[in-house]
Formats: sequence, structure tokens, C-alpha cells
Amino acid sequence: MLNRSRITDIELAPAGHLAIDWARRHSPLVNGFLRERLSDGALNGKRVAVVVHLEAKTAFLATVLADAGAQVVVAGSNPHSTRDEIAAALVEQGIEVHSTRDSGYEAWEKDLASVAASGPELIVDDGAELTLRMARQDPEKFALLKGVTEQTTTGVARLTELSNRNMLPCPALAANDAACKHLFDNKYGTGQSTVQAMLNLTNMLMAGKLVVVLGYGWVGRGIAANVRALGGTAFVAEVDPVKALEAFMDGHQVGELSIGLPKADFVITATGGVRALARKHFSELKNGAILANAGHHDLEIDIEALADEAESFRNVREGIDQYSLNNSRSVMVLANGALVNIAGGFGHPIEIMDLSFAVQGVGCHELARGVIPEGVNVIDPAIDAEIAEAKLKFHGISVGKRMDSQTDNIDDLLGSEE
Ligand SMILES: NC(=O)c1ccc[n+]([C@@H]2O[C@H](COP(=O)([O-])OP(=O)(O)OC[C@H]3O[C@@H](n4cnc5c(N)ncnc54)[C@H](O)[C@@H]3O)[C@@H](O)[C@H]2O)c1
Repeated sequence: MLNRSRITDIELAPAGHLAIDWARRHSPLVNGFLRERLSDGALNGKRVAVVVHLEAKTAFLATVLADAGAQVVVAGSNPHSTRDEIAAALVEQGIEVHSTRDSGYEAWEKDLASVAASGPELIVDDGAELTLRMARQDPEKFALLKGVTEQTTTGVARLTELSNRNMLPCPALAANDAACKHLFDNKYGTGQSTVQAMLNLTNMLMAGKLVVVLGYGWVGRGIAANVRALGGTAFVAEVDPVKALEAFMDGHQVGELSIGLPKADFVITATGGVRALARKHFSELKNGAILANAGHHDLEIDIEALADEAESFRNVREGIDQYSLNNSRSVMVLANGALVNIAGGFGHPIEIMDLSFAVQGVGCHELARGVIPEGVNVIDPAIDAEIAEAKLKFHGISVGKRMDSQTDNIDDLLGSEE
């Protein structure tokens, strides 16, 4: 497998095995519920591409899919986020990997092309990064796809656009839209791990800080709640008035970005779009403001424009770049503007990815069974409930059932004769 793979160094594998094993210990759903579901042989011999941030939890999912008989090929979904020791451990476990940390965009594109060249039938995707590239660069192999299951808000939007243009050759599952994914991963997982990564990279305190949060979707909600939990104040800038009102009712400061930026100690983007923090905003920041991104795109903060505006640039600490602007002001950017919790941290807590990957794994299995119709689909709510129930069971919790006597009688309410 080593011959076909492109990784940094196979000698790093021992540390990777330990990290994957740690992930396994805290992944009761993937290790139990999912394994059992995959044991029917539906994945046997299927070529499956896993293109998700390549760290321990992703690697564990890849091994579980391989144990179910799939021929798994793996690459990272971002050029900055791969853990080299994990890639090495996967290769030692017999899985083909094309990924290195901070590879640069050119090498990353080649890695994705290598995965595409393996002719996957099923894709476990993140940001639709592989699906989009196959559509553009490898139409013959793309036409043979049997299914895609997608991890993120951004990826689901991209797949929906492909489907609307009649360009999606196979059924797709919006794993992100499962309750057991976005209610927990986007909110609790990204919220906690983003704030953790910002504080770890800077070695700074949250209490007393003002944090501008761009976007109050699932991710923004989680970040703002974690900022507050640590004694900071979140200032939410939203473009959707309903979500802005929700942020206000949740007790956060809310307003236009131009009001928040001059007082921000940290600015964190979570919009799912590109250039949400744009060239015109950099002059509004106070000296020393720290910028980070939690959204899928490395381009949520327009780093290119910032570099263009800056008089000089230097790396001042691991994961922190300083851009010196005019008037003796400078701003700091964490993790090159890539997803700070993954490229600059250890990603989501394991228990959260256990839920997300249970959804992705079940999605992959449903696609392999051929029971998902064309277009972009949401996972069956009954499966969502089964996953939640299995997670609760692991925590020793069971839930009661709704009683028939709870339902009122519409005939009584209407006063009808029958
Ligand atoms: N870092 C991670 O680990 C991680 C995890 C899950 C999701 N994501 C990514 O985070 C991003 C957000 O995900 P989500 O589930 O919260 O999406 P969402 O659609 O629920 O929320 C995005 C919000 O941003 C708002 N918005 C858009 N443009 C804006 C602007 N210019 N200024 C202010 N607000 C703006 C939208 O109105 C919306 O409310 C996506 O790219 C998603 O893929 C990252």
C-alpha cells in the first residue's frame, strides 16, 4: 500500500496508531452501532473514497469501513489539516492514503486526483471537495459514481447546486442535515473546539474579551455560547434578521460588523461563504486583533487581500501570522485562515465525531444498499432516532414513549356527530 500512497513518513506510524486507538475507545457508535450495521456485507468489495480532514477520528472511520470489506482510499479535505502520523498509521493498516500536512494547494489537488483515479463508487466527502473535482476533471469516472455522503453545510449547498443543474450522476445524502450531525457537530463540536484552538494557539484568556462572531447558524451559535461560558462577550454580526434576533434573545451583543470590528479582540468567521471578512474591513480592526475562521472555506477571511494591504508579514508564533498594516497597526491570523479548530487544533471532540461519523457511515451503507433515490436526500429520520437512541444507551439513558391517550380527538374538538 505504501507504494501507491503519498504520505510524509511511514516512521511516524506508532504515534498515529496510539491516537487512532484513543479515538476508538471513545467512539462507541462507530465501533459498535455502525460496525454491526455494516456487517451485512453491503460494502464488501466496494471502492470507497474518504475525503475528510485526516486526523484520528476520520482514520478510525476509514478502518471500520475497511473492516466491513470496502476498498478504502483516503485523502484530507484541506491542505492544512492532515496529521502525518495518522496518515502513516493508516498506510501501515493497509489503507491507501494521499495526504500530507501543509501540502500546499498544488500537491493537495494532485492527491485528490489520485483518489479520483482509484475510481471510487462511493464518496464520504467533506465540502464536496472530491465530488466537485471529479465532476470537473474526471467526467468518465464521475459518471460511474454510485453515491456521495456529505459532511458539511457548504458541501450540501454545493451538491444541491450540482443536482439542480442535473449534473449529479448518483444519489447523495446530506449527512450534515441529519439531526445527529448538525445539532451536535456544528454547534457543540465546532463551538468548543474553535474556541479551544483560538486560546491554545494564542495562549490567551477568554474572560473579558470581545469576540465578533460572523454568522449565527449552527456553528456561530456554538462559538458564541462557548465564548460566553469562558467569560467572554460575543458580538454577533448576522445578515439574516431572524437569526440576529435569536442571537439578541440568547443574550449576545448584535449589530453591524462595522460596529463590532473596532472593539474586537478576536474575530471569527462562520458564514459558509467566501470573503465574509473582506478587504474593506481590515482598516476597521484595532491594533492586535486576532482573526480566525471556523467555516469550511479557507477564503472566509480574504487573506490574499490582507496580504496585499499589509506592509509586511511574519510568522510570530506557531499557527499565528502577523500582518503589519499602515498606522503601526497589525492584525494576527490563526492557522492561515483555514478552519482553526482542525488546522490549528485537534478538531472536534471524539464523542461528537462519533455521532457525525455514525451518520456518515450509515449514509455510506444506505448508498451501497442502493436504497437512496436520485438527488440530495436527508437520512431517514428513523435512522437519526436510532443513532440518538444508541448514543443515549451508551450513556445509560433510555427515553419513554408517547402515550396514545396524549392525542386529543379531533372529532371531539370539532363537535362532530360521529
Ligand atoms: N470548523 C468546523 O469543524 C466546521 C464544522 C461544521 C460546519 N462547518 C462549516 O461552518 C460554516 C457554517 O456552518 P453552519 O452549519 O453554521 O451554517 P448555517 O448556514 O447554519 O449558518 C451560516 C450563517 O451565516 C450567515 N451569514 C452568511 N453570510 C454572512 C455575512 N457576510 N455576515 C454575517 N453572517 C452571514 C447566514 O445568514 C447563516 O445564518 C459552513 O462552511 C460549514 O461547512 C465547519
